[in-house]
Amino acid sequence: MLTEYADPFRDRTRDLISRVNPYLRLLRDEHYLPLLHGAQLRHAAAAWRTYFDTAGMRELRALLVEIGCYRGRNLLEVAQRFPQTACIGIDLTFKRVVLSAQAIYAQGLHNAVSVLSDARDLASLFRPDELDGVICFFPDPWVKPRQHKKRLLSTSYCAQLAKLIKAGGFVWLKTDNRDYFIRATQALRAQGFCFTGTVPLELISAFEQRFLAERRTIYRVVLINHKHVPMHGKTHALVRDGRIRRPQG
Ligand SMILES: C[S@@+](CC[C@H](N)C(=O)[O-])C[C@H]1O[C@@H](n2cnc3c(N)ncnc32)[C@H](O)[C@@H]1O
Repeated sequence: MLTEYADPFRDRTRDLISRVNPYLRLLRDEHYLPLLHGAQLRHAAAAWRTYFDTAGMRELRALLVEIGCYRGRNLLEVAQRFPQTACIGIDLTFKRVVLSAQAIYAQGLHNAVSVLSDARDLASLFRPDELDGVICFFPDPWVKPRQHKKRLLSTSYCAQLAKLIKAGGFVWLKTDNRDYFIRATQALRAQGFCFTGTVPLELISAFEQRFLAERRTIYRVVLINHKHVPMHGKTHALVRDGRIRRPQG
């Protein structure tokens, strides 16, 4: 009898894949997971409503993106509290998107999906005015001055967000880096975003919990996209009246 390794027809790429990164195999093979990447993403991006409809979501009222969703903690919380909001969590690493997708699946949520993508490519995933909100908690701070150009929330990126987020939609930013906070809010305000005094749902992200334990100052803001015109439109429920509420029943 042939031993496993003596089998000349054995697919050794599988061994290689799981040795390099075990989450790569899950990303590729676990088709039941609410996870999109590569070519699948191209189809979903052109028709998010169809994607969520097929995923079993009953009524889609709003589309929300979390940039750098990490292991899905916030994404899950928002998706659970706002069942009519489609929640799209984006991250760069195999492990984080797989763990997020596993968490969504375990909770049986039909209104959330984990996406392996670079958030810099947001404009190829969404149409102008398609988004109701973007959550960006603790983006990589790139603290050294020579690294500032690597920060995600640059002037040009904020201009991109302003196009993708509809009037009345929001950006919710948290960071422990004061300089990044000031620059990003300035860039967003230059694009027509305005501060809102509303206290949104209290979400504590994984990094926030870590930083709170270290007693670091945390800078937070919710900005509404006014699109440079007086705005009387609706805002997302999360910002409008998203204070903590106990689930019904
Ligand atoms: C400092 S962590 C914060 C994670 C989480 N938001 C939190 O507050 O706990 C930054 C996250 O952003 C992700 N990230 C960094 N650059 C990204 C990009 N260009 N596109 C998508 N995700 C990105 C990282 O992989 C990481 O999960």
